[in-house]
Amino acid sequence: MNGKVLVVGSLNMDLVVNTAHLPQTGETILGGRFATIPGGKGANQAVAAARMGAPVSMIGCVGADGFGAELLRGAAQDGIDTRAITVETGAPTGIALITVDAEGRNTIVVASGANQLLSPLHLLAAKAAFSAAEVLVIQLEIPPETVGAALALAAEHGTRVVLNPAPARPLGAEILSQVDILIPNEVEALQMTGTATLEAAIETLLAQGVRNLILTLGEQGALLVSGGQRMHLPAYPVRAVDTVAAGDAFVGAFAAGLAGGLELEAAARLGNAAAALSVTRAGAQPSLPRRIEVDAFLQEQGDTPGLPR
Ligand code: RIB
Repeated sequence: MNGKVLVVGSLNMDLVVNTAHLPQTGETILGGRFATIPGGKGANQAVAAARMGAPVSMIGCVGADGFGAELLRGAAQDGIDTRAITVETGAPTGIALITVDAEGRNTIVVASGANQLLSPLHLLAAKAAFSAAEVLVIQLEIPPETVGAALALAAEHGTRVVLNPAPARPLGAEILSQVDILIPNEVEALQMTGTATLEAAIETLLAQGVRNLILTLGEQGALLVSGGQRMHLPAYPVRAVDTVAAGDAFVGAFAAGLAGGLELEAAARLGNAAAALSVTRAGAQPSLPRRIEVDAFLQEQGDTPGLPR
């Protein structure tokens, strides 16, 4: 499998506390274990794709600090080409404050730091990565003008675009029409469309020019909407301990499958399997499965998306 994946996005150090329940407004609670864990939606998706066997490069920014150095080291250990990840002195590395409750649910607050310094100039400096890539993967933890510039460069080079609109904001038809596959979760789909039901969100996104939509639905699996057809892909049954980065596991594995030549449905099944395995483990990047684990899991489930090696 050698179709290249380019990820443009965030790198964060996750500061994670496990708690019995998620705190209410105004409530102080005593948590349990604390850990610093490599995360950031962009980096998580890059690692998820790399662990599926795709050649991955990433464009992003970290600060000139210990967290930045650790994130860069971890990405390189996963085989990611980190040459276009810039160490910026103007801001600290992004962090995310995360609480995870006993049911595996979470709250996440991001302080973007250096991620907000990722500019269109960084993309132009790494332009060759766009022509080399089969698939561009991008999220919304970086400045909007950088997202726009990445989409324009992808169009110039004929690179397919997978956009994970997280954190959600309304995007408009100009952006959405440049996206090949949009992958929001249910909350993001409602927030970005300002609608109250999933059905209304789907109709609004299609009317805004979305060509292929994959809604990730947590323990309900995923819904693929493409070419006037809808297909529900049920989740694989697992016991969830921590859902942080489950969406990133889906997006990264999906992108690896797509770059490797899979059709949308088969790539989405691969994403579903990676997400299922990720929720059985704690943390963002430590939870992301490797190809050999996903293959074995799919075989147990009697399912084979046929990802070429
Ligand atoms: O999707 C999970 C990620 O969101 C975390 O790793 C955190 O860093 C935030 O970006």
